[in-house]
Amino acid sequence: MALNLDAIGKKIGPVNKEYNWKDLVLYALGVGAGFDELEYCYEHNLKVIPSFSIASVFEFLAEVGISSNADLSGILHGEQDIIFHNPIPTEGTITTEGLITNMYDKGPGKGALVVAEADTYHSNGSKLFTNIFTLFCRKDGGFGGDPGPSVGFEFPDRTPDFEEQARSSSDQPLLYRLSGDIFQLHADPEFARASGFEKPIMHGLCTHGFACRAVIKHLFPGEPERMTRFRVRFSKTLYPGIPITTQIWKMEEGRALFRALNAESGEVVIDQGIVEWMSAEEMEMRKGRGGIRFDGQVAIVTGAGAGLGRVYALELARRGARVVVNDLGGARDGSGKGSSSPADDVVEEIKAAGGEAVANYDSVATAEGGQGIVDTAMDAFGRLDILINNAGILRDKTLVKMEPENWDAVMDVHLKGAYNVTRPAFVKMRENRYGRIILTTSSAGLYGNFGQTNYSSAKMGLIGLMNTAKIEGDKHNIKINTVAPVAATRLTEDILPPDLLEKLKPEFVAPLVLYLCSERCPVSGAIYNAGMGYFNRVAIVTGPGTVVGKENEVPSPEAVATGMAKIRSIKDAEEFPNATAAFGPLLDAFSPKKKEASPQESGRLTVAGIFEGIPNAFQADKAAGVNVVFQFDISGGGGGSWYVTIKDSNCEVSEGSHGSPTTAIKMGDEDFVNLITGKLNAMSAFTGGKLKIEGDLMKSQLIEKLFKF
Ligand code: NAI
Repeated sequence: MALNLDAIGKKIGPVNKEYNWKDLVLYALGVGAGFDELEYCYEHNLKVIPSFSIASVFEFLAEVGISSNADLSGILHGEQDIIFHNPIPTEGTITTEGLITNMYDKGPGKGALVVAEADTYHSNGSKLFTNIFTLFCRKDGGFGGDPGPSVGFEFPDRTPDFEEQARSSSDQPLLYRLSGDIFQLHADPEFARASGFEKPIMHGLCTHGFACRAVIKHLFPGEPERMTRFRVRFSKTLYPGIPITTQIWKMEEGRALFRALNAESGEVVIDQGIVEWMSAEEMEMRKGRGGIRFDGQVAIVTGAGAGLGRVYALELARRGARVVVNDLGGARDGSGKGSSSPADDVVEEIKAAGGEAVANYDSVATAEGGQGIVDTAMDAFGRLDILINNAGILRDKTLVKMEPENWDAVMDVHLKGAYNVTRPAFVKMRENRYGRIILTTSSAGLYGNFGQTNYSSAKMGLIGLMNTAKIEGDKHNIKINTVAPVAATRLTEDILPPDLLEKLKPEFVAPLVLYLCSERCPVSGAIYNAGMGYFNRVAIVTGPGTVVGKENEVPSPEAVATGMAKIRSIKDAEEFPNATAAFGPLLDAFSPKKKEASPQESGRLTVAGIFEGIPNAFQADKAAGVNVVFQFDISGGGGGSWYVTIKDSNCEVSEGSHGSPTTAIKMGDEDFVNLITGKLNAMSAFTGGKLKIEGDLMKSQLIEKLFKF
């Protein structure tokens, strides 16, 4: 079985994990901390060892192993790079989301590398760290892929500037595994011997934690939150109880190289270590700034010379973004030659406040204008992270009086305008694998407003643009959302109540827009009303509906009239993430057979019910050339034995035991149900001993492909 190259670029997660001080202390004890470093082990003034960040996302790493389709019996943790963005709080929930970014081929018999990257956010909204994982897949080389970059690394030709001696306890892995990695190899002497070791070995990530403590102790003692990067290559295994020497070379202020050795044999167990940290002054500055920031990012705001756009641009710049202030400077109805002064004035305002901005006077209404705006960002700042499509005009008339020129002018600025700028912006964001895009709709489009057919149509058209762009942007980490603002500006000066003007300032809309533009924003494809500090979500929902008429008979209009109450009802309405999903209820309504076989039909899901449902879950199109027998021995009260035979693209389930199955799977009944319902991760079940596989291990990986429950 080969690596699944299609897994490159596919999203993994979100994986959520709740933690508190006890998890941090357990981890600290697991990596050898104690009374000498009480700050890691006592809940008062508790500090977090930064390497906790990898232990806390272990499930994500397990998912990478599974999605890549690598031969599980040949996987080793090769390298780990962690970039820290913010200090890790002492409790909360973390959410990790990422993807496999590459698979490299070292050649036949030499293995392959699977590289994955994941960002982790805290429930307080801050981005905590980015993990870059490299799995060395010993048995998967030779698929004809790119060998990948070779990175040079040399330690200085001098004795280390610091050396730290530590000794793990001979029971260390038993303590460390309680932080999540419960692979038998680190606990079960029999399993360890069967795997070719004398006894259970240290977890590589446990030794990693020892090294992390050592570098902090010598380079920025007592201030683990100053660490900005910790990178290692795992090179050899180690038995518990053997002393570890961490050697550190300080290269410059803020950067050092290190490695960890088996102090008895001199073998390097952790190699090519890089640690980076921020100065105490930078740390202070970061504390002072806090909150949602856009440092290092570049934003385009269209129509930013006045009204809402001006406030978005000022706020983004105040929080560290470099901003392209686009405005044509035309009249409210878009007429006139335009003027550079609205954009220039806002640029001056930003600069006067200490920010960075450039003006652009292109019209969003043409494709050249859209390209010109994106080019301005690239020429001035070299990148693009955020685009707020905000420019707007009005040409109100009732439908009968709406001449084509007024229809077209409004369409050109609002709907085509967003397309004109978003398209070239998307190209840059895709290259960068990051982007936040805002579209601006209106209550006139969402709900209708007298005299605004052109404007309403354009504003609703933007929702269609978002619905599809969200799908196309998903795997590139581009999130796109839509705002329907309410604010007193030139566009609304004659329609909004004057007594509410203070509360109707654009400043009351901007916070939501800034949040949606930030790294913290986890959503894509949503619509929000925003005004006066009041925010709510608008959604397109679909009612459950009903089938009218008898099977295979065209229903009559009279039958539709009779069924209208059910057709119209949006009680129990659902939201769908895409058009295919919305098609689901229609298919379900006409496939009672599939429903009958659902293992959940009788309420609680049972092991027997799962096996009854297997023929329906079978994906015949994925089974070409597959000839296997899977034996399932499920222990516990609800268990039993079944075997599944797959041959000639057919699937047959039989009760009992097969004489010579290709692969035998042994699990407890509850674990099996949890595995099938996605509550238990296959990799962690396997590494944790809940899932035992005998016979052809590689063939077991077909199961995920062949059955969709
Ligand atoms: P505004 O008139 O104060 O600002 C719009 C800006 O867009 C102006 O500075 C204008 O020069 C610029 N602009 C117009 N056509 C352009 C083009 N072709 N290229 C580049 N720039 C152009 O209006 P406001 O209220 O700030 O509107 C911003 C957005 O919010 C618009 O899309 C509008 O439709 C939308 N909106 C506003 C509401 C409100 O209550 N203010 C309500 C619903 C939607």
